[in-house]
Amino acid sequence: MSLTQALKTIPAHLEYFLEVVNEHSLQSPFVYEFYANLKQLISKEGGIEEIEAIRRKFLTDATPVTGTDMGAGSKVSTSKTIAKIARHGISTKRECVMLASLVKMFNPYIIVELGTSLGIATAYLAGANNKGTVFTFEGNKELVDIAGKVSERLSMKNIRFFHGNIDDTLPGVLNELEKVDMAIIDANHRGEALWRYFHWLKEKMSKAGLMVIDDIRWSAGMYRTWKEIINDEKVTLSMDFHKRGLLFFDSHLNKEHYVLSL
Ligand SMILES: C[S@@+](CC[C@H](N)C(=O)[O-])C[C@H]1O[C@@H](n2cnc3c(N)ncnc32)[C@H](O)[C@@H]1O
Repeated sequence: MSLTQALKTIPAHLEYFLEVVNEHSLQSPFVYEFYANLKQLISKEGGIEEIEAIRRKFLTDATPVTGTDMGAGSKVSTSKTIAKIARHGISTKRECVMLASLVKMFNPYIIVELGTSLGIATAYLAGANNKGTVFTFEGNKELVDIAGKVSERLSMKNIRFFHGNIDDTLPGVLNELEKVDMAIIDANHRGEALWRYFHWLKEKMSKAGLMVIDDIRWSAGMYRTWKEIINDEKVTLSMDFHKRGLLFFDSHLNKEHYVLSL
């Protein structure tokens, strides 16, 4: 990403800091309870040691990772090693704990994750509810193989890997699924790709379904698309946590938008 493109994200960050509120401004009992529970779970959970041990190993692994990037690429580097990806390209421990906390709160049966990368966040999702299944999608075969080994090492049987461009793989898999209870969009960081993924997934979201969109301020295009998405008629409640956004589809919830911190 060029400096000019990065500068274009400044208004999106400013908007966040001007609009963020705390729990005292939450009038909806559902939102108040959800937010309090999520914050409490995140502060209680320290991460899963077996997974963090794998992350630590990755952080010192200089093995190159080749293959084309089917997304918008990295902001930090073009040459990739496992260590660089582990440092700059995947969810942090706290971000993984947030995902695992959401799984614990909602007990989703079918989870769709777009963007597997090294499979660390995937393992957190799968580990938080072993009755659910994680369908995870990745375009880089080397990463699919690495993530597959992570799940083997952790003896996780509830992960299904799909290799290929999500534009080709996701529609067919969604066709086979009756519904999706939780979706995490964290793959191609281009606004138009986010728009496509959102529209495919929203048709399958269960009534109590939850969608997480990562890196909503990664670029001006991602942020523009996020703003369009929260206005979609199928989305009721939406929450902006600066890096991530959450979307709810339950028609009993009021159409509201909150800007919050964790
Ligand atoms: C930010 S990383 C995912 C991080 C992971 N979800 C986590 O939380 O740790 C994005 C991944 O999406 C993959 N990706 C990007 N565009 C894609 C596409 N069009 N099809 C399949 N995979 C794609 C990249 O190869 C990369 O591994």
